[in-house]
Amino acid sequence: MTLIQDLESRLSAAFQQVLGESVDAPVVAAADLRFGDYQSNAAMAQAKQRKTNPRALAQQVIDAIDLGDLGTADIAGPGFINFKISPATFAARAQAQLADTRLGVPDIGAGKTVVVDFSAPNVAKPMHVGHIRSTIIGDSLARISRFLGFKVITDNHIGDWGTQFGMILHGWKTLLNEDALAADPIAELLRVYREVNATKEQPGVLDTCKAELVKLQAGDAENLAIWQRCIDVSKAGLQKIYDRLDVHFDHWLGESYFNDRLPSLVEEFLEKGLARVSEGAVCIFSDETKAPEQDPFKIHREEGWTDNPSIIRKGDGGFLYATTDLATLEYRVDEWKADEIWYVVGVPQQLHFRQIFDAAHRWGKKGEFRHIAFGSILGEDRKLMRTRSGENVGLIEVLGEAVERAAAAIAEKNPDLPADEAKEVAEIVGIGAVKFAELSQNRLTDYVFAWDRMLALQGDTAPYLQYSHVRIRSIFRKLDGPFEATGVELHLAEDAEVHLSRLLARFGEVLPQVLDDHRPNLLTNYLLELARAFHSFFEACPVLKADEPVRSSRLALCELTSRVLSTGLGLLGIRCPERM
Ligand code: ARG
Repeated sequence: MTLIQDLESRLSAAFQQVLGESVDAPVVAAADLRFGDYQSNAAMAQAKQRKTNPRALAQQVIDAIDLGDLGTADIAGPGFINFKISPATFAARAQAQLADTRLGVPDIGAGKTVVVDFSAPNVAKPMHVGHIRSTIIGDSLARISRFLGFKVITDNHIGDWGTQFGMILHGWKTLLNEDALAADPIAELLRVYREVNATKEQPGVLDTCKAELVKLQAGDAENLAIWQRCIDVSKAGLQKIYDRLDVHFDHWLGESYFNDRLPSLVEEFLEKGLARVSEGAVCIFSDETKAPEQDPFKIHREEGWTDNPSIIRKGDGGFLYATTDLATLEYRVDEWKADEIWYVVGVPQQLHFRQIFDAAHRWGKKGEFRHIAFGSILGEDRKLMRTRSGENVGLIEVLGEAVERAAAAIAEKNPDLPADEAKEVAEIVGIGAVKFAELSQNRLTDYVFAWDRMLALQGDTAPYLQYSHVRIRSIFRKLDGPFEATGVELHLAEDAEVHLSRLLARFGEVLPQVLDDHRPNLLTNYLLELARAFHSFFEACPVLKADEPVRSSRLALCELTSRVLSTGLGLLGIRCPERM
């Protein structure tokens, strides 16, 4: 049980005693520590409903509450109840966390199955910075929810059946260089695609591409074989990127996986009256998809936000993105028994997902479907990030540059590190920096990609956290033997010690909050605050030079801090080097 949960149950028991009925009594961490560690406005909410005096009710509740030796409670302002936790409670919490492999994090999954749909690049098109955001945010949400006890299924819904295959098939037959394909399949497919695309104004080219696509869709053996090879080499190329990013998928059910289901799905929608034919196309109309007056995403609304229907079969018989997504959703709900599906996809697809979710619910598919949207990444000129030649920046280039820059910084800071270790550390630091810069943003805002800021050792960065961890580990390297923290009795006398343990106790409270609105930046903020508290502690309180039993107590605090830091970073998909 976290401190918040403990306080909430004691508080609602007190309300029960005073009011004679059980009421909701939420507790939150105090924003201002001068007033205490935790706070509740439940007395104000209850007094308002009952038209009584909030301060008087708060006082009655405080008189009735049994806090045991947790701490004390008092009233502030118009009727807030503030809780001050005793140092002994924090000490006991830290000891319990040290003995717990989950570090005090509750299991809130309750047997629920969540499908996380993220990354999902399109075959033979570049994986651009938008896919970086999806990959990094999705991976972190999957890790966090798994740690919180959900059954998590990650699925890479790659775009492997789009109209781009018309151009790719034509290019494959006329322009392909097999050696280049073997060396770098993604780059070669992209080159071929771009070259055909550049000639599409020339007479006949588009017709040829269209004919190739129609043949593929009709099951032509030659085109299917080429298509299959495209998919295979692309997947292998993508896998290399995911390995480097330490990202894993349980499944890769791309769009093509659902091809066979599409015709009958459209018939079913027609039969059930969920869709109708309009101007030759099969459309799903829905009032739900009208722009609501109060739209939290208003600033991001794309042009064309209307009550346009979602088309699931074109006049020429072709199926669309929406058709595949409905079939995919059905599969996840029916086969995988998903209770929730999270789609980590950019803001421009907002209308698409509203339409899909609404249609799915009317179709009878039960579950919580969430579009976890994110804004764009901007270059330092605040324009959409592009390479010098004007193309979207690819993920590979970004990772390569981050690692190179990290290597230079490490060579300067720690020139004695052996070459192979320096290389490994640069990889961990560079990639960690990119991930952290991404995850520390409010996901809905556009953010500026600033190299120097994300790689700085001081500041709100991954290297700062990794370095904090390294510093703690170096304390333990100075000991003669291993240090066993479990069972050590903690004594918290200094303010800096109390503050550090206060933050450590919050780990299990912050993680569930991340999932309230799918915001990993709550975790990044927490880890930064924890690291700052550690540095203040380390400045104010000698560790190795202290006398026993304070020395062991402080070492145990260091140990717990390093575990929470590395576990927290691990949940963001970021590794910690031993030295840097
Ligand atoms: N391939 C799509 C794109 O790159 C993203 C797919 C997201 N997932 C989904 N189920 N629609 O835009």
